[in-house]
Amino acid sequence: MNTYLQRFSVAFEYPVHFTRGVFDVENPLLMDTIDRLQENRRHRVQVFIDAGLAAAQPDLARQVTQYIHARQDRIDLVCAPQEVPGGEMAKHSRQAAELIMESIARQHLCRQSFVIAIGGGSTLDIIGLAASLVHRGVRLIRIPTTVLAQNDSAVGVKNGIDAYGVKNFAGTFAPPFGVLVDFDFLDSLPDTYWVGGVAEAFKIAIIKDADLFSYLAAHAPAIRERDKAVMEQVVRRTAIMHLQHIATAGDPFEFGTARPLDFGHWSAHRLEMMSNYAIGHGQAVAIGIALDSYYASRSGRITTTEREAILDAMKTAGLPIWSALLERRTPDGTLEIIQGLHDFQEHLGGELRVTLPVGLGAKEEVNRMESSIIQEAVAYLKERY
Ligand SMILES: NC(=O)c1ccc[n+]([C@@H]2O[C@H](COP(=O)([O-])OP(=O)(O)OC[C@H]3O[C@@H](n4cnc5c(N)ncnc54)[C@H](O)[C@@H]3O)[C@@H](O)[C@H]2O)c1
Ligand SMILES: [Zn+2]
Repeated sequence: MNTYLQRFSVAFEYPVHFTRGVFDVENPLLMDTIDRLQENRRHRVQVFIDAGLAAAQPDLARQVTQYIHARQDRIDLVCAPQEVPGGEMAKHSRQAAELIMESIARQHLCRQSFVIAIGGGSTLDIIGLAASLVHRGVRLIRIPTTVLAQNDSAVGVKNGIDAYGVKNFAGTFAPPFGVLVDFDFLDSLPDTYWVGGVAEAFKIAIIKDADLFSYLAAHAPAIRERDKAVMEQVVRRTAIMHLQHIATAGDPFEFGTARPLDFGHWSAHRLEMMSNYAIGHGQAVAIGIALDSYYASRSGRITTTEREAILDAMKTAGLPIWSALLERRTPDGTLEIIQGLHDFQEHLGGELRVTLPVGLGAKEEVNRMESSIIQEAVAYLKERY
């Protein structure tokens, strides 16, 4: 017998708490999360903060320190909170991730110690990658501070940085130890990121949850006007949809080629690159959703009424449905955006799988997209805009 078939599975479990004032000394959630396994020890903790967030909320590092010092008998803050560059551009270099690893090495964190990451999706991706590599993974608690990070990236199992010109080229699958979503962080968020994160809510609503879509459509003006109670609903519902998808769709670590949560993303990633990241992820996703919604209506998967409802709701919420970059062509005359399909296929490996809505709240995967319909979609969105 020359073959032994190895087989095992590992169950993952982590809490996602929704709260306000996570660093109010009275709020027990962070302490409870750190101590959720009820180990009888003083926990070693190192904290990293998004520099953009720290600039917007200059008192944050002090609050974090005060919170932990108030629990000194149970938590050992190994050094002062450190800033990590924020924003999309920070992911282009590996420098930030390396500095974090170096800093963790200097503090001699062990695998049972904690890294607490506070910030937007970009910073959390960088810190998450570093934390997953050190000792092959130290415990990570994510505290997301943008709409997108709260409703999507931080509750999931991935991290990554860009490399060799490819977005998210270097990354790992690494479920966190816990996630704390504090809505108060959103107060200082610039409008672009406030509304940008709602694109991910539209994405998941259109393909999975007609009820959520109706909510978004009905509350689109309130979203634009920064109604906090509405945003809490949107974030919570979207985050939970996301978590349920990861837990129940059968492929949490994306071994297969289907990526239903990437609806609208094949063109979005390309647009972000074409704009040199001047178009934010959420805005690019909204345009991608608009493009694929036209495609879905043209191929009979959704009605024109449904398509118009999608475009209207996103526009009213303050999301774009058009960019002049959509019209840019390569020297041989093809739309540059179509290159996004090839990139997407390469990232998935093997055959192309693009998710399109079928009615509102359901979806299917297609393995072919007609460039003639994509061209039509671009022309339509220009006119519609
Ligand atoms: N790992 C995943 O599964 C996953 C999923 C989706 C997206 N992402 C990644 O997330 C990134 C986008 O994240 P994002 O949309 O959160 O933007 P971001 O992290 O780039 O942050 C946007 C800007 O806001 C600042 N900021 C953060 N919180 C703030 C606050 N509360 N107040 C004021 N300013 C604040 C940041 O410093 C930055 O300048 C992309 O790189 C994308 O690839 C990852
Ligand atoms: Zn996205």
